[in-house]
Amino acid sequence: MALSADQFKQACDFLEQYYSVPPRMGIILGTGLGGFVDDMEVHHRIPFRQIPHFPECSATGHVGHWICGSLHGKSLAVMQGRFHLYEGHSPATITLPIRIMKALGVKHLVASNASGGLNPAFDSGDLMVMEDHINLHFRNPLIGPNDDSVGPRFPDMSAPYDANWIQQSHRIANQLGFPLRQGVYAALLGPNYETRAEYRMLRRLGADVVGMSTVPEVIAARHAGMTVTAFSAVTNLCRPDTLGTTSGEEVIAAAKPAEPKLRALVGELLKNSY
Ligand code: HPA
Repeated sequence: MALSADQFKQACDFLEQYYSVPPRMGIILGTGLGGFVDDMEVHHRIPFRQIPHFPECSATGHVGHWICGSLHGKSLAVMQGRFHLYEGHSPATITLPIRIMKALGVKHLVASNASGGLNPAFDSGDLMVMEDHINLHFRNPLIGPNDDSVGPRFPDMSAPYDANWIQQSHRIANQLGFPLRQGVYAALLGPNYETRAEYRMLRRLGADVVGMSTVPEVIAARHAGMTVTAFSAVTNLCRPDTLGTTSGEEVIAAAKPAEPKLRALVGELLKNSY
């Protein structure tokens, strides 16, 4: 359910008191990717349940903390964990953190997730920068009355992911010495992983990876005028003809090799930003 204006303000005021310098960048750390926080100077670690009107975070591999802190002198709003539609949350709830980030002063969102690799050239442990997405959630956080003070009724989605940041990401990954993949993320509801026929269909639709998150947050961020960069850790390989079984535990473990790449890359991107 969407919050009332008063409830929204309570959540924003609660978090704002923890910042002496407003955050300019928001970061969402997805499944198995929370270790970025270890690189930060952490000022406050706030469990989601302490934030007024925030829901509980129930997803495995998601700590569920809002981290106020900085890296390379940049003030950050970091979500260590996120909310998913498969947890039973509404699109409005999932994107509440984005609207709060915007109200706190965030201009750029860096999102991350774990995904299944559909592109046959991708390997488990690869990091992919998202160039586009396909919203197969068939849900949208912008449905309902539009708040014109946040963004337009019909937001453009021709280039959701900032081209300059994508270019910078490739330059930095090259310097750091690892291959950075680039591709299209398809968002499905989950929580089950897909059938072989579904993986085959997703590849034909033009997706390089598949996951269960990120797209609602990106839509809300773009609506609110934020620029966005998103990274996907390729975990299980979705090869329809030779498909093995997949479990949540395996996906979390398989995200680990991509984590140091994400940490190094986002750290370097931050140095050159805002
Ligand atoms: N499908 C959907 N979401 C996922 C997958 C997958 O194969 N792997 C990690 N997240």
